[in-house]
Amino acid sequence: MSLDPNGVTQSVEETSPSTADSLVITQTRAARLEPGAVQMLSKSPGERAHYIEQDRMIICPASKSVLVQAAWMFNERPHGRARGFVVTSKPGNGKSSLAGAVQRELKPYDGGAGPCVLSISMSGVRDARTVYGRLMELLGSPARISHRLSDREMLAVRLLKAVNCRLLVLDEVQDLLQGSEREQQRALEGIKFLMNQLSLPVLAFGTDKAAQAFASDPHLAARFTEIQLPAWKADNTLANFLATYERFLPLAKASNLAEQQKVAFLAKVSGGVLDVIVQRLQNAALMAIRDGTECITLQLLEKAVSRPTDWALEQFKGVK
Ligand SMILES: Nc1ncnc2c1ncn2[C@@H]1O[C@H](COP(=O)(O)OP(=O)(O)OP(=O)(O)O)[C@@H](O)[C@H]1O
Ligand SMILES: [Mg+2]
Repeated sequence: MSLDPNGVTQSVEETSPSTADSLVITQTRAARLEPGAVQMLSKSPGERAHYIEQDRMIICPASKSVLVQAAWMFNERPHGRARGFVVTSKPGNGKSSLAGAVQRELKPYDGGAGPCVLSISMSGVRDARTVYGRLMELLGSPARISHRLSDREMLAVRLLKAVNCRLLVLDEVQDLLQGSEREQQRALEGIKFLMNQLSLPVLAFGTDKAAQAFASDPHLAARFTEIQLPAWKADNTLANFLATYERFLPLAKASNLAEQQKVAFLAKVSGGVLDVIVQRLQNAALMAIRDGTECITLQLLEKAVSRPTDWALEQFKGVK
């Protein structure tokens, strides 16, 4: 096993490359992979495995359009009548990842005077008190039991003004539908109050039913526009996603994930759900390191329903 000038292990691709060959291989890898993935090629299997299983954010056209709308809402002068979007998709299709990307792209709350984006989960929310309580918690002023609804309302508004919150992100909005009609109404009143008091735009995320959560309040229903993140299918969008994802996989050989057969297989086996596609890719990449093939073949994708059973845990030991 020899190392090329970048410290990349060569034994997988070549038995004994000349110096000129090594240079070509290094350049090819640098063109094929992101710099971080190139560096990983020389690391231990455990370190490579950790790199593979990290979450990534690859921007596809649908998520790009949400980021653009979010940037408009964040940067516009406050409107008298604040508006909102509700981004819906199947479970596991990248909503929370996109909500995180919106915060990072614009400006997450950092303890300063803003402007900033704030994000809360609507999971388990059954009334306006909890909406305000979650925001207060986020901003370092946890609500007390003794606070009445009107106290919380006032404190939440004051805190949001102080940090110059310009966009409120709500995740897991479909969870509102788990409450009774009265509970849904009470939770929606909290959102409507903040939108009205602060002219605060809202970007909500939820599964396909999430838009219904706003439908029960005619004022909110009129203000929210739905954006659907489509299910993934065998098309150029998926091929581009796979080609980009491959750039983050520290494998010594090209997998050509954008090949038509691989695109078609992943679209079918995933039912169009991104989480399933990403898990398959990660499992297959780990197996490619495990069995030394160093690239993802169609056969490997077919096998890669779970993490390699006999190897990864041992390799992970001692790797932070
Ligand atoms: N844009 C992306 N690029 C790469 N991987 C992604 C992207 N979006 C999501 N993923 C992967 O898909 C997984 C599921 O994404 P996420 O949790 O955002 O989905 P979700 O729609 O919020 O799911 P749920 O409906 O269960 O809340 C993530 O852990 C991540 O691995
Ligand atoms: Mg989510």
